[in-house]
Amino acid sequence: MSRKMYDKFDLDKIDLSKEPSQEEPERQYYFMAKCRKWVREFERKNGHRPCFFTQTFGCQMNARDSEKLEGILSIIGFAKADSEEAADLVLYNTCTVREHANLKVYGRLGYLKTIKKKNPHMLIALCGCMMQEETVVEKIKKSYRFVDLVFGTHNLYKFAELLYNRISSGKITIDIWQDTDKIVEELPADRKYFFKSGVNIMFGCNNFCSYCIVPYVRGRERSREPEQIISEIRRLVESGVSEIMLLGQNVNSYGKTLKNPITFAELLLEVEKIEGLKRIRFMTSHPKDLSDELIQVMKSSKKICHQLHLPMQSGSSRILKEMNRKYTKESYLALVHKIREAIPDISLTTDIIVGFPGETEEDFAETLDVVRKVRFDSAFTFLYSKRTGTPAATMDNQVPEQIVKERFDRLLKEVQEIASEQIQRFEGQTLEVLAEEKNEQLDGYLTGRLSHGIVVHFAGGEDLIGKIIPVKLTQARGFYYYGIQPIED
Ligand code: 5AD
Ligand code: SF4
Repeated sequence: MSRKMYDKFDLDKIDLSKEPSQEEPERQYYFMAKCRKWVREFERKNGHRPCFFTQTFGCQMNARDSEKLEGILSIIGFAKADSEEAADLVLYNTCTVREHANLKVYGRLGYLKTIKKKNPHMLIALCGCMMQEETVVEKIKKSYRFVDLVFGTHNLYKFAELLYNRISSGKITIDIWQDTDKIVEELPADRKYFFKSGVNIMFGCNNFCSYCIVPYVRGRERSREPEQIISEIRRLVESGVSEIMLLGQNVNSYGKTLKNPITFAELLLEVEKIEGLKRIRFMTSHPKDLSDELIQVMKSSKKICHQLHLPMQSGSSRILKEMNRKYTKESYLALVHKIREAIPDISLTTDIIVGFPGETEEDFAETLDVVRKVRFDSAFTFLYSKRTGTPAATMDNQVPEQIVKERFDRLLKEVQEIASEQIQRFEGQTLEVLAEEKNEQLDGYLTGRLSHGIVVHFAGGEDLIGKIIPVKLTQARGFYYYGIQPIED
């Protein structure tokens, strides 16, 4: 953390007898200090610090948001609990991209109710995408009255203020904003890994794919200023990070809404210059916005990883039109061809939805055709899920569940077969691996990742975690490799 940041976080210097500032992030530092005072009183009364437990549902964006929320709790003085049972504060950061994600949260809430009966002082907080839906908040107010705090995606930076409000008033606090153009910088974050981190470069989405709820719950697209992004990455590198993942719903349209517009490729060139940074990843790329400039920057970069997540969603041009994706089967294949020409060893991954309204057997055959032609290293396959409020939800030709399931199984089989063949292409080579964690199944083994995102298990000591080391890929196994560290002469 830089000197400047550290001074700001010296909460004990904040004069709590004054009114809070109206400026951000100063206002939040004030409420963090207020909460810290509460934490100290809690500790005096109970003989231990209050503990928090967080559970994150959904995507990388949510994972990064949770690191920020945990960062705020740490600064306030909370300790981490291993389970809900041991926690004084439980925070669920929710997802609503598919219905299944919502059902999981309701299931967990049922379980929390029984814990709270035994442990009545426990605070329960809910945030994230699902809370941006009016029907969800209504349901919580009516049927889950033991919940203490509810906030959404736009006001997450206000967590300390909202928590203080709940603690001091003793009343349920609900604060959901419809949208915002505000980006609050310089708040703390607790990283899960010391050597890698996500970095938000933009928030929201303007694409309105017809099946997708994200634009409604994450709001309009807004980009962070490049200077802010660069200085955050510099700080991360100073504190030991060697790999970053630039995060946005559609990174290829980064910078368009800034006062001084810059392209995503230009941002990458700036990030590349940061000394000490070794690996750059990014997600997600929308095929319609992926520029030639970006391909060239990726090709000439020494740090950008040879992996690209390029969601295709469907292989049928007709369905793609209904999905409002703004590309066709042919243009998607042409783009893949162009990328592979420039970077032949690139690892391509994708997202595919099966059973979008009106999908026929012919449409599905087109999807299988693209899968066979592109040969993805891996693909996330999803059953279409109807999301209230999206245009696709009211389309009258919804595909029967049985047919969708049957297609899904066929697709999964194809995707897995191709992936296990694809992965063999590096067998026998020695490539750089970032050692990420101890392998929980195999004693004495570590698990790491290639630049291509592929997982490698190899024998090694824990002192290697966070380092990039050469590993010989001895055996491909379905989705991953076994490897050995080559013996130096
Ligand atoms: N049903 C199924 N999958 C969906 N996705 C987004 N919305 C839906 C939906 N309604 C998938 C898309 C997207 C990924 C993050 O989730 O494939 O790329
Ligand atoms: Fe959803 Fe499409 Fe935006 Fe991705 S690009 S978040 S699929 S609307």
